[in-house]
Amino acid sequence: MTGQAQAIILGIETSCDETAASVVVRDQSGHGTIRSNVVRSQLDEHAAFGGVVPELAARAHVEWLDHIIAQAIEEAGIALRDIDAVAATAGPGLIGGVLVGLTTAKALAASLDKPLIAVNHLEGHALTARLTNGVKFPYLMLLVSGGHSQFVLVRGVGDYERWGGTIDDALGEAFDKVAKLLSLGHPGGPAVERIAREGDPKRFKFPKPLLREERLDFSFSGLKTAVRLQAEALAPLTDQDVADIAASFQETVAQIVGHRARQALEKFAAEFPGEPIRLVVAGGVAANRRIAEALQAPCTAFGAELIVPPIALCTDNGAMIAWAGAERLALEDTDSLAIAARPRWPLQDEDMRVKKHGA
Ligand code: KG4
Ligand code: ZN
Repeated sequence: MTGQAQAIILGIETSCDETAASVVVRDQSGHGTIRSNVVRSQLDEHAAFGGVVPELAARAHVEWLDHIIAQAIEEAGIALRDIDAVAATAGPGLIGGVLVGLTTAKALAASLDKPLIAVNHLEGHALTARLTNGVKFPYLMLLVSGGHSQFVLVRGVGDYERWGGTIDDALGEAFDKVAKLLSLGHPGGPAVERIAREGDPKRFKFPKPLLREERLDFSFSGLKTAVRLQAEALAPLTDQDVADIAASFQETVAQIVGHRARQALEKFAAEFPGEPIRLVVAGGVAANRRIAEALQAPCTAFGAELIVPPIALCTDNGAMIAWAGAERLALEDTDSLAIAARPRWPLQDEDMRVKKHGA
């Protein structure tokens, strides 16, 4: 984009169990800088329940959001009136939380008389690598979080194509469920990874559902059941059994993800001959070393660049929403205050295309 002025964007994220706000500045050349990025995790509130309780999440967002926004503004060294636009997650996510964030954003936008940008949470993840690494379009994104597991072709702002995803559990969710059945606590991913270091990844052979099929989809629920049956068969479990099950599970999902990444890179190379091949990873599971290794191998084989933004920006945060807002504002693609929160909102959606082409 040429002729764009610098823009200061406030981003608000409340779609799951993080209350987050951030101030991001996008300069004339399209370069982004994070001025503040405040995240309050609700882990403690939900820990006793072994998962996120939507009602509790919404209440905690109500209680904390104003403070988090005030802190983000203060840490950025600006005043509220300096903001050029307010961006907030409008979906997909837990509707109570999304409503809290979006309604607050609307109130701020109205009172400051600034534009509102209703951001698709997945679009936030998809564009983060442009903020952190200045990645150029097109690129491939693998989003692996507690709520989502999908390959998305990112052709431009608002121009996304879903190449495949999970037909049941998300990958982070599978880690969390395996951790729960091994009594490792919540969130499970980091616990499974830690204990897996002590285990034998080859002791158990777990199924790799769907892997024989060409499509770029995942299925993790059968795998989780196989892990449960194995654990039940061995009960009572020794510490070594637990470590071996965790290691074998992690190894199985790493192989599945690595295999699918190879196919996705092949497809990208065929669709964009001569174009540099880039794979961007987003979502909390990107923190897993074994998964990162499994993604690096096919990237090296294809001469592709693997881009993993800093983990604090791979997991849910306000900066990714502010940045998506900044990219959309630069295209003068803002929203009316009448826009509704959406519990479901696929990235490759009619609304996205309508917006992009102005039809
Ligand atoms: O992106 P994220 O912070 O939140 C959303 O789900 O939106 O991702 C959290 C998920 C959880 O399921 C967590 O268990 C998983 O990411 N996770 C991991 C690791 N760290 C976090 N999974 C595997 N290995 C890890 N080291
Ligand atoms: Zn997320």
